[in-house]
Amino acid sequence: MTAQIIDGKAFAAEVRAKVAEHVSALKADHGITPGLAVVLVGEDPASQVYVRSKGKQTVEAGMESFEHKLDVSTSEEDLLALVDKLNNDPAVNGILVQLPLPDHIDEEKVINAIDPAKDVDGFHISNVGLLATGQKAMVPCTPLGCLMLLRDHFGSLSGKEAVVVGRSNIVGKPMAQLLLRDSCTVTIAHSRTKDIEEVVKRADIVIAAVGRPEMVTGDWLKKGAVVIDVGINRLPPAEEGAKGKLVGDVDFASASQVAGAITPVPGGVGPMTIACLLANTLTATCRANG
Ligand code: GUN
Repeated sequence: MTAQIIDGKAFAAEVRAKVAEHVSALKADHGITPGLAVVLVGEDPASQVYVRSKGKQTVEAGMESFEHKLDVSTSEEDLLALVDKLNNDPAVNGILVQLPLPDHIDEEKVINAIDPAKDVDGFHISNVGLLATGQKAMVPCTPLGCLMLLRDHFGSLSGKEAVVVGRSNIVGKPMAQLLLRDSCTVTIAHSRTKDIEEVVKRADIVIAAVGRPEMVTGDWLKKGAVVIDVGINRLPPAEEGAKGKLVGDVDFASASQVAGAITPVPGGVGPMTIACLLANTLTATCRANG
C-alpha cells in the first residue's frame, strides 16, 4: 500500500487566504488592522529564517508586522521591558518571542510576562490551563495545525486511538489535549516508554514530535494509520559545503508503505504552523475588539 500524501503546503495556503479575507473585512468594516510583534534575541540562523518567514506572511495576510531584533547580550530586564511595552501597545494584538532564548534569560519568566490575550503562541501558563480544562484558550500553533489536517482528513476524530510520540510543552502535551478534546483515546509515548513500537502500533493516528530524525519506521505502524510528522531535522551533509537533507521524525520511505496517509517533510506540518499563527493573531484581534 502507498499512503496518501497530506499536502500541508496547499492547506496552509487556503488557511492564509481565509485569514486574509477576514483581515480585509475587519479593515473595511471596522478600520482595524491586526498587528503581530515578533521578538528575536540573538542570531540563531534557524530562528532568523523562521522570523523572516513569519514577517513576510504576516504582511501578505494584510496584517501589520512589528519585528524586534535584539542583541544576544540583551538582559532579561530589557526583554521584559519590551514585552511590557508591547502588552500596552494597542496596535499590537499578538506577541511572539522566538524560542530558544539565550541561556542567561529565564524563558518561562518571559513567556508568562506576555499578556495572555496577546499570547499567540499559547505558551502562557493561563492559556495552558484554559486548554487543559477545555476553556477558550489561545492554542499553540503547531498542534493546532496538526489538528486541522486531521479534521480535514477524517471529519470526526471521535473514538480514534491516537498516539503522540514526544512530551514537549510546545507540541506533545498540547497536541494530546487537543486530541482529547476531540474525543480521541490518547496516549503520550516518550523516551522512557516501554515497547514503544507496540504502543505506536495500536494507533489510528500517530503524531511524531520527538526531534529524532526518522525514528518512527514503517514496522511501528498499524496498516492504514494516519501519520503526522512534526519533526524538522537536518541530516549531516553528504559532502562538505553541501546542505544536509531535511527529514522528519518519521522514516518516510518505509512509513508510506504502511500508512493510510502521511505528511511529508518539508511541505506537511511546517507551513501549517505559520498559517495558524496568523489565524491566532486574527482571533486575538477579534477578541480584543469584542
Ligand atoms: N521556536 C520553535 N518553534 C517555536 C514556536 O512555535 N514559537 C516560538 N515562539 N518559538 C519557537
